[in-house]
Amino acid sequence: METANKEAETRLLISEEAFKEIEDRAEVEDFVRVKLKGSSQRSTLYEISKLKGKSLESMDEKIFESGIFWKKIMLSKDLKNGEKKKINHHKNEILIVRNDDNLSAFSNLCPHMNLPLEMGQITNENEFLCPFRDSKFCLRTGAVKKWVTTNPDWAPEEAVELTKAIKEIPLNLLPIMDKDGFIYIGTN
Ligand code: FES
Repeated sequence: METANKEAETRLLISEEAFKEIEDRAEVEDFVRVKLKGSSQRSTLYEISKLKGKSLESMDEKIFESGIFWKKIMLSKDLKNGEKKKINHHKNEILIVRNDDNLSAFSNLCPHMNLPLEMGQITNENEFLCPFRDSKFCLRTGAVKKWVTTNPDWAPEEAVELTKAIKEIPLNLLPIMDKDGFIYIGTN
């Protein structure tokens, strides 16, 4: 992409996938069809002249508020009510969920067996349901609303005993805030 930018003498040339992400706030100067290095197919690249509204360039910005350093992670409008998004933060996968006028951030790993939560569902009671078993967590507090207590019929007896022995662990909610059109996560 860098080479394509140099060759076309453009300021910001981006791929089709990247363009789709910012389509609604990008002003396109021009586009080119090129064969990128390592690809036999032609791709469309877009030259962006301007980003309207909130700039993505400021996405790395950190602010200090209420004793916490906050890192900007996405535009508020990119996470609608009832939606969830996964981000990488301090080398961990974090799920950000907006529901019921509430934002929650927590590890993508279920506290029960460390399996990924990203395919889990948001319930009508503002809870998060693990996609693997039936544990449910409150999205406002992280509290366990239902802990995995059942085993499938085929589970060996040891597994049933093990399940009973695993004590309830709530979701560890991370500081998150919505401010001036951006979502921030606490970093300390
Ligand atoms: S992995 Fe989520 S309830 Fe077991």
